[in-house]
Amino acid sequence: MHTLHLPPQAERARYLATAIQAAEAAGAVILEHARSGFRIDYKAAINLVTDADRQAEERIVRTILSAYPSHRILAEERGQDGAADSPCRWIIDPLDGTTNFAHGFPFYCVSIGLEYNGEPLVGVVLDPVRRELFTGVAGEGAYVNGERLHVSAITSLEQSLLVTGFAYNIRETADNNLDHFSRISLRAQAVRRTGSAALDLCYVASGRFDGYWEVKLSPWDMAAGVVIVREAGGLVSGFNRETFSLYGQELVATNGHIHNQLLDAIHQRSDKS
Ligand code: IPD
Ligand code: CA
Ligand code: CA
Repeated sequence: MHTLHLPPQAERARYLATAIQAAEAAGAVILEHARSGFRIDYKAAINLVTDADRQAEERIVRTILSAYPSHRILAEERGQDGAADSPCRWIIDPLDGTTNFAHGFPFYCVSIGLEYNGEPLVGVVLDPVRRELFTGVAGEGAYVNGERLHVSAITSLEQSLLVTGFAYNIRETADNNLDHFSRISLRAQAVRRTGSAALDLCYVASGRFDGYWEVKLSPWDMAAGVVIVREAGGLVSGFNRETFSLYGQELVATNGHIHNQLLDAIHQRSDKS
């Protein structure tokens, strides 16, 4: 993070407050649909979208643009919007874990990130079912419901509980993560697949998981969670320790201690630690 380019603290606090307000509004929309029912449409064979995704996104975008009409937006269902010269870009996944939601499996969230001059600055992830609000602001720490978050202290991959996920084109490409999944399952204590990338990141930040990787993510899956992991003391990279981009698809997020071991396992190198 290039601290010199950060906006003033009061401004950052306003951004965070707006993100929380938008996430709470979207969470209410999602829970209402979970109670009363919703329509499911198919973007592709196994890629769903529901009324809850669309209406939650609408609420988030309305909340953000009424506070900041000049800001840019990148939202999963509606794409890009706004003036190109603003340093602020909100990156929104209105419902991360749509397949879970559609089946009534209660593990999904709202994810709202703010990128400032191309760097992730603010992250808010709301799990409306458990009422857990994860927040992070670059340089200011990460919190769940106001309580400070810290990554785990585990130092070996063998003792790590990891998590991963699979993209919707799993049937169409050989680069579908199944090879990494089977190999790493034999090196970690266990590997889970929850179906919500944003919550996976927050669970790394909370120390509930020790590490996470995925191969085909979109910026809205990661934008909020990466701030929260970093501010909880964790490490975020691409499949190379030195590089990370919200637009790079590949993500490895860990407590820091097991980062190289997980990268080695991904690249099929033997464990040197
Ligand atoms: C998906 C979830 C899932 C991950 C997929 C994402 P969606 O997002 O985060 O955990 O494995 O890659 O596309 O469609 O539920 O918002
Ligand atoms: Ca998503
Ligand atoms: Ca989504």
